[in-house]
Amino acid sequence: MCRVPMIERTVILYIAMSLDGYIARVDNTIDWLSVVEQQGEDYGYSDFVGSVDTVIMGRKTYEKVLTFGGEFPHKGRMCYVLSRTQSGTNEHVTFFNGAAADLVRKLKQKGGANIFVDGGADVVNSLMTVNLIDKFVLSVIPVFLGSGIPLFQSGRPEQLLKLTNSFTFPSGLVQLWYEKKA
Ligand SMILES: NC(=O)c1ccc[n+]([C@@H]2O[C@H](COP(=O)([O-])OP(=O)(O)OC[C@H]3O[C@@H](n4cnc5c(N)ncnc54)[C@H](OP(=O)(O)O)[C@@H]3O)[C@@H](O)[C@H]2O)c1
Repeated sequence: MCRVPMIERTVILYIAMSLDGYIARVDNTIDWLSVVEQQGEDYGYSDFVGSVDTVIMGRKTYEKVLTFGGEFPHKGRMCYVLSRTQSGTNEHVTFFNGAAADLVRKLKQKGGANIFVDGGADVVNSLMTVNLIDKFVLSVIPVFLGSGIPLFQSGRPEQLLKLTNSFTFPSGLVQLWYEKKA
């Protein structure tokens, strides 16, 4: 019997950053995202999130999401929260205490739809260090925050990318789609 190889799931970072590269202010606020809020425009988010069945986020991002109130945004998806301080599973998420790379490798072996890396920067940089993010969808917000939590931390290996798409919006948001070069 011919064994058909499983198509590997793609790990995608979908995140918004200020033009100077921050994902949040130092105090974790993200109110500056509102400069691009426009009725009827979600910058492809619902299509994107509909294409994933698994979400990975850091504990601080998870806690931020909880402050939004309302229904948990990833209901119905497997949601893993990386943490060295919390464990267990609740109604919406499973805390993962191991290495971020081990989680991603395990999920890739398991098969399924694509995997959404939601952030924050700690998680992104852990995964980028081991080259485990396949695609990057970066929504650049037209604001210089001046300071904050930088998306990209220093000390990672150099990495070449291929630009696969780019979109500009009347709000001034520019969305860049990259994938890693093999
Ligand atoms: N602009 C955007 O689109 C966007 C998207 C997502 C998040 N954010 C913002 O980003 C901020 C949070 O980012 P952040 O970088 O400070 O924190 P984060 O990555 O969300 O969470 C950091 C925490 O996650 C755990 N963690 C991270 N990497 C780990 C690893 N490799 N292994 C095990 N545990 C790990 C640790 O939790 P423990 O301390 O429990 O060990 C760590 O303290 C929030 O303000 C959020 O609103 C913005």
